[in-house]
Amino acid sequence: MTSQPGRAAASGRHGSQRRVMVTGAAGMLGSAVLAVLEKTGAQLVRTDIKPGWLKLDVRNRDDVNHVTGVFSPDLVIHLAAATGLEVCEADPQLSWSTNAAGAENVALACAAVGATLVYVSTARVFDGTADRPYTESDAPNPVNEFGRSKLCGEELVTAICKRSFVVRAGWTMGEGQHDHTFVGAVLEQLRDGADTIFAVGEQFGSPTYTADFARCLLRLVDTERYGLYHMVSGGGPSRAEMAAQILAELDLADRVRLVTVDTDHFADRYPVARPRSEVLAPAALDDLGLNDMRPWDDALSHYLQTEWSDPDQFLTPKATR
Ligand SMILES: NC(=O)c1ccc[n+]([C@@H]2O[C@H](COP(=O)([O-])OP(=O)(O)OC[C@H]3O[C@@H](n4cnc5c(N)ncnc54)[C@H](OP(=O)(O)O)[C@@H]3O)[C@@H](O)[C@H]2O)c1
Repeated sequence: MTSQPGRAAASGRHGSQRRVMVTGAAGMLGSAVLAVLEKTGAQLVRTDIKPGWLKLDVRNRDDVNHVTGVFSPDLVIHLAAATGLEVCEADPQLSWSTNAAGAENVALACAAVGATLVYVSTARVFDGTADRPYTESDAPNPVNEFGRSKLCGEELVTAICKRSFVVRAGWTMGEGQHDHTFVGAVLEQLRDGADTIFAVGEQFGSPTYTADFARCLLRLVDTERYGLYHMVSGGGPSRAEMAAQILAELDLADRVRLVTVDTDHFADRYPVARPRSEVLAPAALDDLGLNDMRPWDDALSHYLQTEWSDPDQFLTPKATR
């Protein structure tokens, strides 16, 4: 890990003067990161491929150079990605052009303007066979196109941009109705009146609460201790354990049946190989004394209380709403 003074610090640009560009701003982590950044008074450019944002397709090197050159950010938080495993497997060109070449484009542009770069990566760079949490020093060995393209993105960012952070997140949860991950899917089923939830008991991961991640990420950036980090909520539950916790938190355990299934149960819907374990140990963050991510069950409880606070929404069968 290297430690060099970044341009933001060198120029005294902090707080209201810092210029930050976010790619993939419309996504789940984008929303959480922007919520924290907006409180700092930083000057922000929010880009995404989606309409409604400053349009920037990170696959287009000229456009990335142009937008970065015009805004001249101190910090770029690169979140744009092709994140669907099934989509990436079916369309490797999309996966590699977005997750690897897109990261290369952003890294080159950051190097050209002297910006610090944050690249958010994934536990899916590992093969999942370890029987202990993965640390930053474990060798990646991705098992699908998504993981391979994200790992390549990590390597390109690190090689091109000296002032870069590669930060691996786990199973994200957050952003209420916009939560498109596992927790969001369970909550949606409950809101639709499901009386049974099926969840896999043999896949383990590190839940990652987006609000905690965003806060911790920006603290890390301020240290200018560049390098590779795991940033996750503490613990390593299975999907089924997470579903059980959701039911308990919502006081639905007596009314909704939880059926623990094996991975094959969802083979038609999710045919792409997934690591058995995606549990990450945040060793580098711990070493810096910067790990203020809550344990996953505390974070989940907080998330449900603050962003899904109307318990009645889970009690009404769909047909009567
Ligand atoms: N969600 C997780 O569980 C998780 C876990 C670990 C790491 N991560 C990483 O964290 C980062 C952010 O993830 P997220 O969950 O916020 O993903 P997300 O919700 O899918 O957001 C990504 C955003 O990037 C946009 N995008 C896709 N291709 C683009 C392109 N070529 N140029 C510009 N924008 C593009 C997406 O638009 P479309 O929706 O139209 O494609 C979307 O708005 C990603 O790098 C992801 O790999 C996510």
